[in-house]
Amino acid sequence: MIKVLFVCLGNICRSPMGEGLLIHLVKEEGLSDKISVDSAGTSGWHIGEPADRRMRQTAESHGIHLPSKSRQIRLSDFQEFDYILAMDSSNLRDLQDLYHQVKKPKAQLFKMRYFDPQAPDSDVPDPYYGGDLGFEEVYQMLDRATRGLMAHIRAEHGI
Ligand code: 4NP
Repeated sequence: MIKVLFVCLGNICRSPMGEGLLIHLVKEEGLSDKISVDSAGTSGWHIGEPADRRMRQTAESHGIHLPSKSRQIRLSDFQEFDYILAMDSSNLRDLQDLYHQVKKPKAQLFKMRYFDPQAPDSDVPDPYYGGDLGFEEVYQMLDRATRGLMAHIRAEHGI
């Protein structure tokens, strides 16, 4: 199994959206037996919570289901997952700090928008305190970046 983990701060907005989008794409492309998807937060502030209602509503309006329950990233994730995608530079720094504490990490770390052809390597902004437009923008960025990520994974693994 190729294992992919999306990470943001709270694991209730951005990373659940990335997770839901990739799950949808994996099913659409018939790769459910090859690619598995999860998400986590750098913080433990919302452990056990479903995705934010506003993010779920935006996702549903595009036919995407968000199954996540918030959990915090753990050191073993770096040994278990093949790809870990950070939503912004602050998430990436936190992940790099943890990465250096792990014996034999396997994961490759990327910022998610590395895979967005419209703005490679910019941040996915935190929509938590903003208006509804923020959620739609996050959806659009992640939709593009998820397709780019999928193409990258397929090329890297020859699938
Ligand atoms: P996320 O958004 O990192 O995309 O899940 C946030 C959710 C909650 C908080 C911050 C960001 N918070 O401060 O509780």
